[in-house]
Amino acid sequence: MTTAPEAQEQLAEVARLLAQAQRVVVLTGAGISAESGIATFRDARLGYWSQFDPEALASPEGFARDPGLVWRWYMERYRGLLQAQPNRGHQALAALAVNTPQLTLATQNIDDLHERAGSRAVLHLHGSLNSFRCQRCKRPHLLTSDEQHSVTPPSCLTCGALVRPGVVWFGEMLPDGMLQTVWQAARACDLFLVVGTSGVVMPAAALPEVARNAGATVVEVNVTPSEVTSAAHHFLKGKAGAVLPALLELMQHSGHN
Ligand code: OAD
Repeated sequence: MTTAPEAQEQLAEVARLLAQAQRVVVLTGAGISAESGIATFRDARLGYWSQFDPEALASPEGFARDPGLVWRWYMERYRGLLQAQPNRGHQALAALAVNTPQLTLATQNIDDLHERAGSRAVLHLHGSLNSFRCQRCKRPHLLTSDEQHSVTPPSCLTCGALVRPGVVWFGEMLPDGMLQTVWQAARACDLFLVVGTSGVVMPAAALPEVARNAGATVVEVNVTPSEVTSAAHHFLKGKAGAVLPALLELMQHSGHN
């Protein structure tokens, strides 16, 4: 077990590596938004929703089987997101980008809290809950406030088919070119930072190992070990909202930015 002074030393070492890195890739998962009050994907089995499997809801089959159920699930998350604010973890990553020559931020999250904290050019590997489109003709759909509370999905104003969230469902491809971009960035970076993901969903979960095999130092921040911990050189145990600001502060004191 790591003692507090050892953890402090490891934090300082990672801060030093970050301050020296030219190319950094950050991959975030639901854990970074947990402190903003958004339930993580695998903890979201609360209350009424506990009787449903989130992976079954987040699928084309789930939507075909019961569009209303899937719509209500996403609308609950959508309304939650409207109330949520970015936390210190999101803010620290936005600041890190300013202090790093080249930083690529990829997220599996469908929220926009990174952008609201000031991050730019965020790669949303699993799409976005702020966009909606027709499931047939794919035209974007602007959500009305009535539709946010509707128990069934709206219909496309052009072709009449059902409107769906602009997210990536299980069994679907990632947005065009995005995987190649983040894969290349992972292969070319000095330091790969993975934050708050259980690391069970491919292809995102493969990225830490891709980076490690290409020679990068891999650092993980999580409250508990995950499926990608074996790829990490440094495991920083703790909440993203505490560990990331601490890293940034140590970086600033190391005089490299
Ligand atoms: P999960 O819900 O699977 O995992 C959340 C992770 O965050 C866990 O490893 C927690 O230990 C960690 N965690 C919780 N609170 C934290 C905190 N305050 N600071 C740091 N870590 C914390 O979410 P994801 O790994 O993001 O995909 O899930 C990956 C994908 O699975 C999602 O994007 C979604 C889902 O299926 C699709 O819908 C396609």
